[in-house]
Amino acid sequence: MNDKRVLLIVGGGIAAYKALELVRLLRKAGIGVRPVMTAAAAHFVTPLSLSALAEDKVYDDLFSLTDEAEMGHIELSRSADLLVVAPATADLMAKAAGGLAGDLASTVLLATDKPVLMAPAMNVRMWAHPATRRNLATLMADGVQIVGPGEGPMACGEFGPGRMAEPAEIFEAIVAALEGGALEGGAGSPLAGRRALVTAGPTEEPLDPVRMLTNRSSGKQGYAIAAALARLGAEVTLVSGPTALAAPAGVRRVEVRTAVEMLNAATAALPADVAVCVAAVADWRPDAVFGVKLKKGKEGPPTLRLVENPDILASLSRSGPQRPRLVIGFAAETNDVEAHARAKLARKGCDWIVANDVSEAGVMGGDDNAVMVIDGKGAERWPRGPKAAVAGRLARRIAEALA
Ligand code: CTP
Repeated sequence: MNDKRVLLIVGGGIAAYKALELVRLLRKAGIGVRPVMTAAAAHFVTPLSLSALAEDKVYDDLFSLTDEAEMGHIELSRSADLLVVAPATADLMAKAAGGLAGDLASTVLLATDKPVLMAPAMNVRMWAHPATRRNLATLMADGVQIVGPGEGPMACGEFGPGRMAEPAEIFEAIVAALEGGALEGGAGSPLAGRRALVTAGPTEEPLDPVRMLTNRSSGKQGYAIAAALARLGAEVTLVSGPTALAAPAGVRRVEVRTAVEMLNAATAALPADVAVCVAAVADWRPDAVFGVKLKKGKEGPPTLRLVENPDILASLSRSGPQRPRLVIGFAAETNDVEAHARAKLARKGCDWIVANDVSEAGVMGGDDNAVMVIDGKGAERWPRGPKAAVAGRLARRIAEALA
């Protein structure tokens, strides 16, 4: 990523402070940042902080004689590989959707020929307002990529969708966009008209009202794949176990808890052209769920009897009229990655296995992944990279296979 450059437009909202952390993450990854600020943004973060972190000057004036002499605003709008708007306020989104160009930020958005990624942030009612819905639809139809917003408590004291995505999530979307080149939504997209099913996250298998069996899956890789497939134009259903992640833009999320619920939701999402099973499904569940909390007693600790959960990947892979054309499984291996993955491919009956080498430090639960993709023909080892980049490459491979 060392030769990549981002033009970061910081809008005027309380989330602007998170833009500083985003700049730090980008610079750490070797990505160049050229900052642009709106007049309103300067009420929330100072140009000096932004400039110091970005190691570049801050552009904020459309009519600056000095800036125009050094680099005209048209040149500025094309001086990066990607334009990022974070926070993308309701005002900036409206200006960009309407093609206004009254200040530097909106002018560079109108004058650019580079892909644009926006991280919206606003009050929940502003986000839900029909005007913002219209502007969002227009921007997406124009090929603007959207990351977030998430749901949660807001600075204004309300609760709901509108919180800007966390800097790490925006960073991953930036890497995916830089890695994937200019990917456009709309009818010309490689997966337009295709339906995709993705399972992600852990499952929770209850034992009694307060206890359960689960695992440490973060859901990050599955969510990144769902987002990457949606960016290529697919209609995506994400069947997700409990995670802390916000549903990616343009993805239909079905939230489940147990493996049985996940199987039912996945089956209900058929027909699909491709199914990607990324979920860390609990292999077993307690054979009885107690209706009241189990108590300590003289008889000592209880003995748990486990029963096997349904295998969602194997079930989706079984031949029949509903079988997706392409079924992809994941495998976590620590040794003999290719041999184990090949055996899993045969056992489950799927078409590809994406094998994670979890012996590598930082892969399990982290933001990076190192994978090998195994299919009927052979094995490909992909270089280690952020989960969003792995997702982008997998989505492109899926698009090629379904073409
Ligand atoms: N999977 C599933 N339903 C299950 C179990 C697993 O859909 N009940 C899917 C996962 O989503 C993943 C793949 O199967 O795509 C992983 O297979 P699994 O047999 O769970 O692999 P490991 O846990 O790596 O297996 P093992 O330790 O048995 O090799």
